Amino acid sequence: LAQHRERHGLSEPDGDPSQPTWTVDDQLAVVAEERVPALSFTFGIPPLEGLENVVLMGTATTVEEAVALDRLGIDVVVAQSAEAGGHRGTFIGSFDDGLVGLVALVPQIVDAVSAPVVAAGGIVDGRGIAAALVLGAEGAQLGTAFLFSAESGASPAWKKALRELPTIVTDAYTGRPARGARTAFVAELAAGPPPAPYEIQRVLTSDFRNLDGYGWYLGGQAAERARELSAAELVATLAAETAAALEQVDPP
Ligand SMILES: Cc1cc2nc3c(=O)[nH]c(=O)nc-3n(C[C@H](O)[C@H](O)[C@H](O)COP(=O)(O)O)c2cc1C
Repeated sequence: LAQHRERHGLSEPDGDPSQPTWTVDDQLAVVAEERVPALSFTFGIPPLEGLENVVLMGTATTVEEAVALDRLGIDVVVAQSAEAGGHRGTFIGSFDDGLVGLVALVPQIVDAVSAPVVAAGGIVDGRGIAAALVLGAEGAQLGTAFLFSAESGASPAWKKALRELPTIVTDAYTGRPARGARTAFVAELAAGPPPAPYEIQRVLTSDFRNLDGYGWYLGGQAAERARELSAAELVATLAAETAAALEQVDPP
């Protein structure tokens, strides 16, 4: 990173990057205090004491992870497939083993757990939602689709990168594997020496994020087809498209 820092006139980051500003315990204390009704988590299973009245949604990238969540009584299992944008939720085994496509992952998890399953990864329209429902999911989670909504805080450079470039899963930017646009900067980092551990590497790259073309433009494999609507219009469109797609599969 030093050569890039020098090129852009960036100074070394302030503070000690190995000291997190908050912990999972801090976050869970807020959930309990504020009586948050529903909590979605990823990267593993947090301590669940004190969260008995909270609807819990946990992320799984493999059948083994889904079963581990189900055994603990998690209310909803989110099946995050390989196509998904953002950090990988994998917490058992290797990140490579957790890169399973949606069509393979969803039915396997549906068959293995008793909790309802929400499908996540590469869905940006009603056809994708209908497909997830046909595979046995009870719902779908869309991330990348909303990056392009009017309310999104994603920068123009972020959206342009996701429209124009292929995506890559790499730990080079934050120290933890995530899917985002394969910009020249990210490709160079990925080809370089291994990153510092997660959080430390994230802090070390944090001041690059606001430089155009040097951000970690997280997003999934279907970004190219995401639409620029308001979030409300997008949800209404998705609902209508899903109904139409399901009718094609099973005409009334
Ligand atoms: C920019 C971005 C940020 C994300 N942040 C989180 C997060 O904080 N927690 C989480 O559980 N998932 C997060 N995700 C992953 C989503 O929950 C979901 O798995 C993913 O967006 C689904 O794939 P899609 O992006 O192709 O729709 C994020 C995804 C993106 C694109």
